[in-house]
Amino acid sequence: MAPSSAKLPMNTDTIITDFLIIGAGVAGLRAALELSRHGHVTMVAKGGPQDNNSFYAQGGVAVALSEEDDVDLHFTDTIKAGHQLCSRPATKILVEEGPSRIHELIDWGAQFDTVDGKLAFTKEGAHSRHRVLRAGGDATGSEMVRALSTKAQGLNNLKWLGNHFGVELVIQDGRCCGAIVLNESNGTCQTILASAVLLVTGGAGQIYARTTNPANATGDGIAMAFQAGAVLKDMEFVQFHPTSLYLPSSPPFLLTEALRGEGGILRNNRCERFMTHYDRNQELAPRDIVSRAIWAEMQKTKARHVYLDVTHLGATFLKERFPTIYSTCLRYDIDITEEWIPVSPSAHYFMGGVKTDLNGASTLPGLFAAGEVACSGVHGANRLGSNSLLEGLVFGLRAGQAAAQYANTHPSPTRAAAVHQTKNSARKMSEQDVEKLRNSLRRLMWTRVGLIRTEDSLQKALDQLQQWSRKLRVPPLSRTGLETHNMLQVGLCVTESALWRANSVGAHYREDIPFSKGLKWKVHSECRQTHNTTTRSEQLNSQEKNKPARRKVRMKK
Ligand code: FUM
Repeated sequence: MAPSSAKLPMNTDTIITDFLIIGAGVAGLRAALELSRHGHVTMVAKGGPQDNNSFYAQGGVAVALSEEDDVDLHFTDTIKAGHQLCSRPATKILVEEGPSRIHELIDWGAQFDTVDGKLAFTKEGAHSRHRVLRAGGDATGSEMVRALSTKAQGLNNLKWLGNHFGVELVIQDGRCCGAIVLNESNGTCQTILASAVLLVTGGAGQIYARTTNPANATGDGIAMAFQAGAVLKDMEFVQFHPTSLYLPSSPPFLLTEALRGEGGILRNNRCERFMTHYDRNQELAPRDIVSRAIWAEMQKTKARHVYLDVTHLGATFLKERFPTIYSTCLRYDIDITEEWIPVSPSAHYFMGGVKTDLNGASTLPGLFAAGEVACSGVHGANRLGSNSLLEGLVFGLRAGQAAAQYANTHPSPTRAAAVHQTKNSARKMSEQDVEKLRNSLRRLMWTRVGLIRTEDSLQKALDQLQQWSRKLRVPPLSRTGLETHNMLQVGLCVTESALWRANSVGAHYREDIPFSKGLKWKVHSECRQTHNTTTRSEQLNSQEKNKPARRKVRMKK
C-alpha cells in the first residue's frame, strides 16, 4: 500500500509544469533534452545529479559501429543472451537506432576512447564482435552523463530539483498527472502537476545485501508505479554480475566484464582456472553462467570468493586501461598488477520493471518510463552486457517524444488534482527499527531470492516479506522510511514472480527445477496490484485502507 498522502505534511504551493521527470541518469537526461523542445520540464531526483546507476557504469556502451559488426549481429547476440525472451521489435529498435544516438552524443561532446584516431571497441561476454565503446578507460557512464548534462545546462526551460524524493504518483480520472515529492532539506511534501510524467529512477539493486549499485538504487520508481496501478513485467529476472570486489568489510565494487574481455582469468581458491569446465566461451560466457559457475566453485571449495587474475596483462596496460579500478583496488591495498583480486557475484541489474510499449508508455495513461526502471523488453531473461546505456539513450528519446505527443492531445491537469493535506499520522516504526528491517530485508533477499532459488526458499522469503510489509504499512516520512517501503514492495514482486516461474531460464535459476521446461515458459510474468491503493484521501479513509494490497502475478505471451 502506498504511504498515505492524507498524512503528509504538505507545502501547499503546487508546482505546475508541462513535463515531470522523476530520476536522472542517461535515460532521463536524453528525455529531458527532447521534452524541453516541447514545454517546461521539471526534473526531480533524490540526491544530486551524479547519484544514479548510469554515472557508475564502467565497461561501456554496446553499439554496432565497428567495421567487423552490423546491427543484425547485435540483434542476434541480444536475443540469444536474453534466452529468446526479449521483445524482438524493441530489440530491433535498440540496435538500429543505437548508432544514431551514439553519433549524436559524440556531436554533443562525449569523448569515447580511440585507438589511432578511431573509436576503440572491446569484446565482452556473449558479444560475437568487438562492440563495446568506452570512455576514460573504465568511466563510460560518467562521461555520457557529463556530455548530456552539459548540453542540458544550456536549456532555459529545464528546472532541476535535487534532494527531492518522489513519494507517490498523483492520479486523476485514471490518468497520471503528477507526483507528490518530499523536499529532503525541509521535510515537507509538495504536489507537482504535469501533463505527462516520466519515470527514470533506475533499478533496485539495494534490495540485495550484495550489489554493485549505488546506495540510492532502491526501486523507488518501480514501487511508485506499482502502487499507482501500473503493470510490472518480468520482475523475477535480476542479473547478478559475476565479478565484484569481495572484501568482508567494504561494499562490493564492480570489476567490469571488460577485464575479462581483455583476457582476465577466473581462478578458484585452489588456483585452478575453472570456467573451462562450464562453458566453451570460458570467462566470456553470458553473465548468468559465469555467476553460477563462481557460486558453484565457492561451494565446492568452501570459500567466500574466487579470484580474478589480470596480472599477466601488464602494469602499464592495466593502469591506463582501467584507471578507476586500479586506483580503487589500491585504496583497499590490492595492487591488481601484482595480485589476484578476490571477487564474488553481486546483484547488478533489473531486467524487469515498469511494463512499457515501444515508446516508453506504461499501462497507466500519462505515465512513461525509460531505462532500468522500465521493462521495454530488450533484455529478456538476461541482459547482454553494456546494452543498458544504449537502451537509456534510445528509449529515453522515444519516451520523451511519446510524452510530448501525449501532452499535446490531453488537457493539462487541473489544480484540483493537487493534494493539500497537513495532518501528520502516527507512524508506527522508528527510524532505527526501519533501518534494522532494511538490513534484514537485504539479507533475506540475498539468501533466499538471490542467484540460486528454490520453491522453499522463495516461499519462506514471501511469508517474511508479507509480515514486514504489514508492519511498515505507513513508513516514516524520511528517505530511509520511504526507500525501505519501496524496497519491500519490489522485493515482494520479485519473490512472487520468482515463485510463479517454476523453471530456470536466464538469470532466474531454480535449483529445484534446474532446467528450462520448454515452450510453455516462453512467456512473461506480470505483476499488478489488484485494487487501487493510490493517493486519494477519500479512499484511504474508506474500508479499503485496511485491506492488504493484493498482487497478482500472471502469465503473458
Ligand atoms: O561489466 C561491466 O562493465 C558492466 C556493464 C554493464 O552492466 O552493462
